[in-house]
Amino acid sequence: MAISRVLTGVRPTHEDGQHLGHYVGALRGWLNYQSQLNTECFFLVADIQALTTHADQPQMIRESVKGVVKDWLAVGLNPNLANVNFVLQSQVKDRAELSLLLSMIAPWGELARNPTIKEELDKMKSKGSSETVGFMTYPVDQAADIYMISPPNEQGNEILVPVGADQLPHLEFAREIARRFNRAYDVNLFRPCEGRTTDVGRLSGTDGQGKMSKSQGNAIMLSDSAEIVKAKIMGMYTDPNRHRSTDPGTVENNPLFEYFDAFAPDHEEVDEYKRKYRLGQIGDVYLKQRLADIINNMLDPIRERYIENQNAPVGDYLLAGTARASEICSEVVAYAREAMYLGFPE
Ligand code: TRP
Repeated sequence: MAISRVLTGVRPTHEDGQHLGHYVGALRGWLNYQSQLNTECFFLVADIQALTTHADQPQMIRESVKGVVKDWLAVGLNPNLANVNFVLQSQVKDRAELSLLLSMIAPWGELARNPTIKEELDKMKSKGSSETVGFMTYPVDQAADIYMISPPNEQGNEILVPVGADQLPHLEFAREIARRFNRAYDVNLFRPCEGRTTDVGRLSGTDGQGKMSKSQGNAIMLSDSAEIVKAKIMGMYTDPNRHRSTDPGTVENNPLFEYFDAFAPDHEEVDEYKRKYRLGQIGDVYLKQRLADIINNMLDPIRERYIENQNAPVGDYLLAGTARASEICSEVVAYAREAMYLGFPE
């Protein structure tokens, strides 16, 4: 039976404590993959990629590796399942070689035009830091993250890469790298990876001003207490033109309903709220209380798992998943070397 593989990654940098936006945009989808037993999942902590922006904070990165894994455990990702691997990027040694080999056929011109790179570059420059070679080429390195688990003897099996929309240029690039490699060496080694974005997309912040982000102060963190969640929701932005609960309200682009859509298990209940809101028959306060309950119910088991996993063997989990990725990667690299005629002459 064909198995498929899923790989995705995050950069361990503390700025990225996990919030509801990450939950709906990424983690919830990863949980779905994990529950498909014929899908082998690789969740990568990209500590080398974190150095592309935080080379001056190596200890912070090491600390964040632990934080990322604890967030994963809290949402219910389970490295004890046979099909789930937590991988530490820097410890798959052959991955670095794959990255170097891929860089030989990776088109520079496309890297230079990559919109995500451009955006990140602008941000770095506005902070006064200058780009490194490692930063400029990280999409190549990210392609190596993906193809390191490209099963060489199982052609036809695809690698799905669930990511946010900002990562799609990197995946398009990785697909091009696979095609170029196969064409250049007349092999069928890499099957172009398949990006998967979630349909929810970006979740708005509680202030209704752009997407949820810890640094904007408009985020509900997965580790927030029930009281804090309630306070944040009671203070959240809704329809600014509605002054009393008998005013007809607007549902579209109203974060209150965006959250109901994202988190309420019962869609009929939400449809009823929307109908009444438009007619001015239901109050914001009532709805916010209800929403706070729904989100707190969802977060309760996550909070419990944060506590349960306080002393979880994070290092052991990473070690096991990294060993699995390394095993596949060394095979992939052997094939790539052969395709490129690297080796001692007879
Ligand atoms: N660049 C991704 C991000 O910033 C993280 C990442 C690293 C990744 N390696 C990956 C994502 C491989 C998908 C596949 O979010």
